[in-house]
Amino acid sequence: MTDIIDGNEVAAEVRAGLADGIETLKAEGTTPGLATVLMSDDPASETYVSMKQRDCEEVGINGIHVEIDAGASAEKLFDTIDDLNADEDVHGILVQMPVPKHVDKRRVLRAIKPVKDVDGFHPENVGRMVAGNALYKPCTPHGIQKLLEAYDVETEGAEAVVVGRSDIVGKPMTNLLIQKAPMGNATTTVCHSRTQDLEGHLREADIVVAAAGVPELVTGDMLKEGSTVIDVGINRVDADTEKGYELVGDVEFESAKEVAGKITPVPGGVGPMTRAMLLYNTVKAAGIQSD
Ligand code: GUN
Repeated sequence: MTDIIDGNEVAAEVRAGLADGIETLKAEGTTPGLATVLMSDDPASETYVSMKQRDCEEVGINGIHVEIDAGASAEKLFDTIDDLNADEDVHGILVQMPVPKHVDKRRVLRAIKPVKDVDGFHPENVGRMVAGNALYKPCTPHGIQKLLEAYDVETEGAEAVVVGRSDIVGKPMTNLLIQKAPMGNATTTVCHSRTQDLEGHLREADIVVAAAGVPELVTGDMLKEGSTVIDVGINRVDADTEKGYELVGDVEFESAKEVAGKITPVPGGVGPMTRAMLLYNTVKAAGIQSD
C-alpha cells in the first residue's frame, strides 16, 4: 500500500509544538511578530499571503500585512522594508515573491535584516545554510525534511534526485540533503531543464523532490518501485471547474502513486509544511531578538 503523506497533519504537529515557545515569549513580554509584504496583483500570491496571515492568527503570532501597489516605485518597497527592519514588534519579514519586474529582487533580499529574514533568502543566511550553520532554514526544504522524518524515510545513504534548481527550493533542498544528519547524508543529484536523461536519474532515486514548476512532469513509469515522492509543484492549469482552473503538482499523482511507496498529494502535502516552518522561523526569530 502506498502511504499518502499528510502534510496538513504534520504541519498541525509543528504548530502544536510551537505553542509552549510562544507562551513563554509572551509571558516575558514578547509577542512574536511576522510582517508580510505583498507587491503584486497575482491572485495566487494574494492567496498565499492571506493563508500565512491566517496561520499567524491561529497560533498567536502577531501578523502585520503591508500591501504595496504593484505599479508603485521600488523605493516605496525599500522604505517599507527599512521601517519594518526598525520596528521592534516585527521579528520576521517576508516579501512575497515574485516582485514586479521593475524591482531588483536581489536588492530586496539584501534589504531585509538577516536576523528578520525568516525565509532564509538573504545572502548571509544562504551562506550560513550552505556552510551547515543555518540561522533560518528555508521553509519549503525544511518542511520537506520534517515530512521525511515524520514518515520514517531514511535519507542516510539514499539516492535523492531534486528536480529543479530554484533559489527557493531546488538549491537549498540539495544543500540540506547532502549535509550531515538530521535528515541528510543523501547522495543527491540535481536535474533541471537541460538534463539529458531525467528518467534515467529518476529510475535510480529512492527519494524524488519535484520542484520544477512543470505540471505533471514526473510520471509513474519514471519512478523506482517503493520510492518516496515529494511534490512541490502548485500549477494552475485550465480546467472545467467553477474557478476555471485546477491545481496540479509537478508529479502525475495517479500514475506515480501506483509505483511510489510514499507520496505527497497536491494540495495537502508540501504547502502546509512551508507555512508551518515559516511560523517556526518566526518564533525562533522572536526568541533571538528578545534576548
Ligand atoms: N513565493 C513562493 N514561495 C515563496 C516563499 O517561500 N517565500 C516568499 N517570500 N515568496 C515565495
